[in-house]
Amino acid sequence: MALVSIKNLTRIFDVSKPWLNRVVERREKAYLTAVSDVSFDIKEKSVYALVGESGSGKSTIGKMLVGLLRPSEGSVEIRGVDLAREQDAARVDAVRADIQMIFQDPFASLNPRWRVRDIIAEPVAARGGDTKGLSEKLLEQVGLSARDAGKFPHEFSGGQRQRICIARALASEPKLIVCDEPTSALDVSVQAQVLNLMSDLQDDLGLTYLFISHDLTVVQHISDRVGVLYLGRLVEEATPDDLFDNPKHPYTQMLLAAAPQLGSFGRDVPPPKGEIPDPINPPSGCAYHPRCPLAQDICKAERPLMRDLRGAKVACHMAE
Ligand SMILES: Nc1ncnc2c1ncn2[C@@H]1O[C@H](COP(=O)(O)OP(=O)(O)OP(=O)(O)O)[C@@H](O)[C@H]1O
Ligand SMILES: [Mg+2]
Repeated sequence: MALVSIKNLTRIFDVSKPWLNRVVERREKAYLTAVSDVSFDIKEKSVYALVGESGSGKSTIGKMLVGLLRPSEGSVEIRGVDLAREQDAARVDAVRADIQMIFQDPFASLNPRWRVRDIIAEPVAARGGDTKGLSEKLLEQVGLSARDAGKFPHEFSGGQRQRICIARALASEPKLIVCDEPTSALDVSVQAQVLNLMSDLQDDLGLTYLFISHDLTVVQHISDRVGVLYLGRLVEEATPDDLFDNPKHPYTQMLLAAAPQLGSFGRDVPPPKGEIPDPINPPSGCAYHPRCPLAQDICKAERPLMRDLRGAKVACHMAE
């Protein structure tokens, strides 16, 4: 059974100017659709990766999943509980206790005045749990030393700080961790170490991850399934091998062509073609059609629905 089930998830932000400006400048209200009609499942003990360019709605989906943002439409169910609509507070609390989030910037998410011991144990202390020796144990689990518990965040490198964030996320023994670009602020050499650590922990502890990244190559080895987002919509979903060997959506193909490749070091990599459209006035039909080399009339007129194609799912009129 799926641990997380996301159905027709949509989030619209009101980005209008203040009322007086609208009246004086005669402007309409403006709405930005950050996430539109996204559906996918995350199986228990698996890693689902969400990839897409900046502004494609990845973080917005992550925030709705952990309950930091309310969906405008659609639902997120975790073990059958819809965090935004469930009336039974005890059930909501039980599900919440199973979820943690790890953010991109490890420094901003660590309180600089607290010792690492207190930072790591905080989620457990907040629930009145037993924190004796907990931070020391977790520090060793993430490859740091128990002695580090007495230090402050500024005494660590970026990679070590992200390990502290991971330790804190593990403290409350969650089942599901939403990782929002956990390695993109790190040096390339450290990225791989932190990724390996996260992957080992996932195996050892039987965790489920929603792993968010703008970089397809980062998620290639860690994920069991990959969803590709474009302008708030899921355009393709497949296993990583399938996606890399046989990308079906022209957008995925373009992303892969633009990704740095082993062996192409020092060679020019073509940058992604075209501009990301304005999400307040998205293109008609398939939002990718202005950038798409395969676009036909139907792509301008009709939004492609997600359909099954040889084991993968793709939302494209032209994909064969
Ligand atoms: N609170 C908000 N109010 C208004 N617009 C928002 C808000 N949060 C996000 N957006 C808009 O929603 C869209 C999706 O944002 P989101 O942060 O989910 O993108 P992302 O895929 O995580 O991008 P990045 O890779 O840069 O982190 C963007 O156009 C963004 O400007
Ligand atoms: Mg983001």
